[in-house]
Amino acid sequence: MAEDRDLASAKKQKKDEFYTQLSDIEKEMRYYKKHFRGKTVFLNCDDPFESKFFEYFVKKFNSFGLKKLIATCYAGSPIMGDQLSLFDINPETTPGTPYKAVVTKVYDKTGDGYIDMLDIKELFKSGENELTELEGNGDYRSTECIELLKEADIVVTNPPFSKFRDYVALLMEYGKDFIIIGNMNAVAYKEVFPLIKDNKVWLGASIHSGDRAFYVPDDYPLEAAGCGIDEETGRKFIRVKGVRWFTTLDHRQRHEGLDLYKRYDPELYPRYDNFDAINVDVTREIPCDYDGLMGVPITFIDKYSPDQFEIIGLAITDLGKSIGVGDYDRKYKTPASRDGTVYYVKDGKGVVPYARVIIKNKHPEEPRK
Ligand SMILES: C[S@@+](CC[C@H](N)C(=O)[O-])C[C@H]1O[C@@H](n2cnc3c(N)ncnc32)[C@H](O)[C@@H]1O
Repeated sequence: MAEDRDLASAKKQKKDEFYTQLSDIEKEMRYYKKHFRGKTVFLNCDDPFESKFFEYFVKKFNSFGLKKLIATCYAGSPIMGDQLSLFDINPETTPGTPYKAVVTKVYDKTGDGYIDMLDIKELFKSGENELTELEGNGDYRSTECIELLKEADIVVTNPPFSKFRDYVALLMEYGKDFIIIGNMNAVAYKEVFPLIKDNKVWLGASIHSGDRAFYVPDDYPLEAAGCGIDEETGRKFIRVKGVRWFTTLDHRQRHEGLDLYKRYDPELYPRYDNFDAINVDVTREIPCDYDGLMGVPITFIDKYSPDQFEIIGLAITDLGKSIGVGDYDRKYKTPASRDGTVYYVKDGKGVVPYARVIIKNKHPEEPRK
């Protein structure tokens, strides 16, 4: 029991400490090349010595035509400064103090035609780039980090999972574009869903299912489910389910749309009792010829194209009430029944499907006569 408690508390403390792999960053960023030219990219939850985001953007600095790359790290990070030797650290910085890296020039010093780790090591030696201590603790909400945020065009990172709502709200407040990692569950957050509905934020292009491996600090409890050791690097990793990229930058995949093949049949698509819409249990079975409102699983958002569908709302509790979903008729009561959450009646019993996004097809096909 005590071991269980130790593990739970260690997990709680470390739940923000997942480090993104270079391969996952590469797979997503290639969709946004055109957005980066002449831009300042800010990594505001990233120790430049540790973060693969930093390594990625330094390597791509010239080919993307970046204007500036800024990275700041947080004093609370347990691995901050662990790998200072990688850069032959600037003598003006003290290991253990949060710092910022500002890069405006990247040279191919090795002359091999591309930027490699040896070139990255040279970064802060030329005097053109800056590596300095922060005054505060590197919190993305601190005044000095907000000043850097104001200067930035695009924020890219994997922010602390526990602060996702607050983090997105801050980026929206400052009107910044972003490409960040979060969990699919965030789609249903009352702070995030309206942004998705209004096409201000959408999912990225490269992750739509399965899990992803993230490196974790060396003292992460290996007993945790999904933990392992990477044979190549010797580093501990954990596999995390439900990971998605969230972005405000357009990418071609979100305009592809779904290939619909099913036709509407009232027997197959029951109508809700407390809202004028039909229920669809499987996204790819959205009827191609239905022109009214439809309730679809939340994973529809993975396939959502604003050219094909309009999102009307999320039919759960208060968000549901805000779009007119009615109360639950108590005579059909089930443990999942809630006012504002859609349900239908089958064989005299109430059926409450898991969270439904209400959508409308913008270009339905003509129904068969
Ligand atoms: C999920 S990790 C990802 C780290 C890095 N961005 C990456 O993808 O490899 C989130 C990081 O945010 C840091 N962090 C937590 N709270 C923060 C805050 N208020 N301000 C800035 N960084 C914070 C954590 O210490 C942690 O290193």
